[in-house]
Amino acid sequence: MQPAVINIFEKAAKKAGRILIRDFGEVENLQIQSKSIGDFVTNADIKVEKSIIETLKYYYPDYSYITEESGTIKGDENTIIIDPIDGTSNFIHGIPHVSLVIAKMTANEITDGIIYNPILNEFFWASKGQGAWCNNRRLRVSNRKILSDCLIGTGLPFGDGIYKDYLLEIDEILKVSAGIRRLGSAGLDLAYVASGKLDGFWEKDLNLWDISTGILLVTEAGGKISKLNGNKWTTKDRDILASNNYLHNDLVGKLSLQ
Ligand code: IPD
Ligand code: CA
Ligand code: CA
Repeated sequence: MQPAVINIFEKAAKKAGRILIRDFGEVENLQIQSKSIGDFVTNADIKVEKSIIETLKYYYPDYSYITEESGTIKGDENTIIIDPIDGTSNFIHGIPHVSLVIAKMTANEITDGIIYNPILNEFFWASKGQGAWCNNRRLRVSNRKILSDCLIGTGLPFGDGIYKDYLLEIDEILKVSAGIRRLGSAGLDLAYVASGKLDGFWEKDLNLWDISTGILLVTEAGGKISKLNGNKWTTKDRDILASNNYLHNDLVGKLSLQ
């Protein structure tokens, strides 16, 4: 049974999801601004986030909020983390791989979260100790053991900051795996690792709102999360490696070369 907090997140996400669906049908009319090279925000991001905050504030008026578009709202030790549209570039281009991400963090630990793709009507949720789920189906990471059978997801950086390191990492993974996917929503990528669709995923320089729910989905689906060098991942870290347990050490070996 879904915990109460997930029911409330679902209510907020499904209400805001209707705004996203409406705007997705009219992408040609979107107002788009560029935050930096390749990093866009649309009026849909702003409207969706406003709607999520409005619903959640009714139930959790005293909590703290960390949001991508409205910044931080200071409150008590419970924190809600929001990415209104994860996959804005996909959204702008009419590609239906987008999601709303809402998570709850207490004492620097993600305890509950949802990822919702309103266009494909996929509702993922996880709560600590209660498993990972999508539309009432329990999720398990894949059980592929050999990298040459595996599809590995990643994200590519905007601009040229860490681009060269990425080329080396891509080279290492492409040589030994069944292929790489760059799907464009880090949250959904992690949900796909939890679902056993992708066998692993790595990306650097992410924000907590991109991956908050995703890390809980993966661990609750029996997978493993770490930094790229295999060290423990904490909510302060921006680089992430996720996979099933069989592959994790092999992936660390390939990705911790620098
Ligand atoms: C982005 C997506 C993308 C990842 C970027 C994120 P946004 O989030 O998750 O897959 O590669 O690093 O910034 O900007 O669409 O919310
Ligand atoms: Ca994001
Ligand atoms: Ca976003």
